Amino acid sequence: MKKQTLPTIFAADQSPHWTSQHDGIWSRRGADLDAVPTLSILTTLWDQPRWLEAYHLYDDQGSELFEEICELPEYYLTRTENSILEAQAKNIIAAAAVECIVELGAGYSKKTIHLLTEQLRQRGHCLFAPIDVSAAGLIASQAAVRRDFPQIEFHGIHARYDAGFAAVDKNLPTLFVFLGSTIGNFNQTDFPRFFRALAEAMGPNDYLLLGADRVKDKNILQPAYNDSRGITAAFILNVFQNINRLLGGNFAREKMRYHSWFNPEWQQIEMYAVAKENQTIRFPSAKAEFIWQRDERILVEISRKFEANRLQEQLSFIGLQPVAHYSDPQDWFSVLLLRKQAHR
Ligand code: AVJ
Repeated sequence: MKKQTLPTIFAADQSPHWTSQHDGIWSRRGADLDAVPTLSILTTLWDQPRWLEAYHLYDDQGSELFEEICELPEYYLTRTENSILEAQAKNIIAAAAVECIVELGAGYSKKTIHLLTEQLRQRGHCLFAPIDVSAAGLIASQAAVRRDFPQIEFHGIHARYDAGFAAVDKNLPTLFVFLGSTIGNFNQTDFPRFFRALAEAMGPNDYLLLGADRVKDKNILQPAYNDSRGITAAFILNVFQNINRLLGGNFAREKMRYHSWFNPEWQQIEMYAVAKENQTIRFPSAKAEFIWQRDERILVEISRKFEANRLQEQLSFIGLQPVAHYSDPQDWFSVLLLRKQAHR
């Protein structure tokens, strides 16, 4: 393999681990990102209650349906977060004196553009490095950035989030950006594990910009996850198409229905598939089967909602100190700016 020089966003010791097939996109050597994630499915479907990792929702069809969700009148999250970033990008960039923006997710959404525009305006230069497991997403993002912001230095990081952010040079002042309330998918174990690893990977001059959906009236929350056009139901139940394809299963769309509600104790929306009748689910190639009983639910996704103060408190114990809290006029959504705690 030809010798490749890693861009300066990477820590000095990282060069053995990364390689570039496509100019400006760096992949983690040996990381099999295309490995079929079937083991997790064959484990959690036999748990009690049965459940699935949210990860499996995003095949091509699922990603398209999620894009549609973001446009729904009931789904206020994307719109609200975007309006906060539009209004506050100037203050955010002024508060975070960085040279580099690392986005968790292939990005280049409207939301990121506000930050990139401000970074260029205030500092005259900008490194932009999205981290994503989809190489196609990174290549599309790169093309869009080259078209709209030729001044920006783009480095795509093709990896899982944790491998990606750990590779970034701690001495390069960086704003890590994790938007969309993706943290809503994290369960009680994922959440501290993720933020400890991120805090560990951050340097003394780094910041984190985090989007989090807030606890609010269930009459606003529930329709956002049960829209009148049935797009959310289609998105959630599509996971079984993906599972059938990955594992040769026999889930049948007409034998299940969608159910969701806001669980007030756990402060989360829970999205379920419910069996309409008793049915045997079979995965012949894995020699595995189970009886999915009538009315039995499979938990497909959770979307946790946060109280801004509690979230800040929790993160500060993990080593991320609150710097600023940006919200919308209705206090529906929070964008938190945090920095790494000096020591803890
Ligand atoms: C991508 C996890 C932020 O929880 O609001 C939207 C996913 N699922 N509608 C969310 C989702 C159903 C979304 N996140």
